[in-house]
Amino acid sequence: MAKGKVKIVEVGLRDGLQNESTVLSTHQRFELLEKLIAAGTKTFEVGAFVSPKWVPQMAVSKELTDLVLKKYPDQKKFHSSVLVPNEVGLKGAMETGIKEIAIFASSSETFSQKNINCSIEESFQRFEPIMKIAKKNKIKVRGYLSVCFGCPFEGDVPEKKVVELAKRLYKMGCYEISIGDTIGVATVNQVDSLFKKLKKVIPITKLAGHFHDTRGQALANILEAYKVGVRVFDSSIGGLGGCPYAKGATGNVATEDVVYMFNGMDVNTGLDIDKLCAINRWLEPQMNHALSSRVGKVGVLKV
Ligand code: HMG
Ligand code: MG
Repeated sequence: MAKGKVKIVEVGLRDGLQNESTVLSTHQRFELLEKLIAAGTKTFEVGAFVSPKWVPQMAVSKELTDLVLKKYPDQKKFHSSVLVPNEVGLKGAMETGIKEIAIFASSSETFSQKNINCSIEESFQRFEPIMKIAKKNKIKVRGYLSVCFGCPFEGDVPEKKVVELAKRLYKMGCYEISIGDTIGVATVNQVDSLFKKLKKVIPITKLAGHFHDTRGQALANILEAYKVGVRVFDSSIGGLGGCPYAKGATGNVATEDVVYMFNGMDVNTGLDIDKLCAINRWLEPQMNHALSSRVGKVGVLKV
C-alpha cells in the first residue's frame, strides 16, 4: 500500500509541444494522448486557445479538443483543460464544451509584456470577465503564475510579489494555483521558502508545482515542494518543450522521471512507468531530437 499520493498534471501536449520546432499533426497529438491515458493519465492539458500568430504550434487546439472530448466525454473522469489568455480564447474553448480552462499570469512585468502583450494589472483585468463567464457556465479555472523564482529579463522576483499575485488568483476563484519556475532557475532553498510563505495564505492542497528542468534542478525542487506539503505537480512526457516567450526555457520536468522518483518513495501517481517509457520510445523519432527524460531513455532496471 502506497504511503501517499500525488496528482500529476500532464502538460506535454501544451507546454511541451508549444515550444517544439517539429509541429505534430492533430492525429499524432491524439495518438499521444490516447497512449498517455492508457498509461493512467487522468489530468492533462490538450492545448492552448492563444493567438496562432504568437504560438503557431497550438493552432490545432480546437480541432484536437473536439476529438478528445468526443472520445473522452466524461470530464469528471478525464480532466481535459486548455490555456486561455482572454475572452477570445474563452469563447473558442467554450465552443468545444470543455469544462476546465487555465488562465496564466506573470510575476514580473517584462515577462507579462513578452508573453501576453500586456501588464500584470491588465492581465488581471482580462481575467475578471473570464472568471465571471466561467463561473456562470460551471467551468473550473486553474491559475498559473510564471517566473516565480526568477525572470529571464528582470532577474530576481520578490517572494512578496509572488505570494500577493498567487493569492489574488486564488481569491478570484482559481481552484488551483500552479507556481511556475518557467526558466528552471529555482533551487531547493527558494522552493522551501516560497511554498512555506504561500501556504500561509493559500491552502497547500490548492497549490501545484510547475518546474522546468533547464538547470537539472526540477526533481530536487519537486521533492522539496513535496516535503512542504505540495501534492500536485505538472510534467511533460519525455521532458518536451518550454515557453516560447522565455528565452532559455527548456522543457518541463519529464513525467517518467517524476513517476520514477515517486515510485521509489512509495508515493502513488496512478501512472505506469513502463508504459510511459514506451511512449517516450514511440515519441522520440517523431520529435526529430533526443528527448531529455533520463528514465525514459533507459527504463526501469529489469534483471
Ligand atoms: P495581442 O496581439 O495583444 O492581441 O495578443 P489583440 O487582442 O490585440 O488581438 C490581435 C489579434 O489576435 C486579433 O486578430 C485577435 O482576434 C487575435 P486580427 O484582428 O489581427 O486578425 N486574438 C486571438 N486569436 C486566437 N486566440 C486568442 C486571441 N486573442 C486575440 N485567444 C495574446 C494577446 C494574449 C492573444 C497573445 O499575446 C498570445 O496569444 N500570447 C500567447 C502566449 C503563450 O501562449 N505563451 C505560452 C503559454 S504560457 C507558459 O508557457 C507558461 C506556463 O507554462 C507556466 C510556466 O512555465 O511558468 C503556463
Ligand atoms: Mg511552463
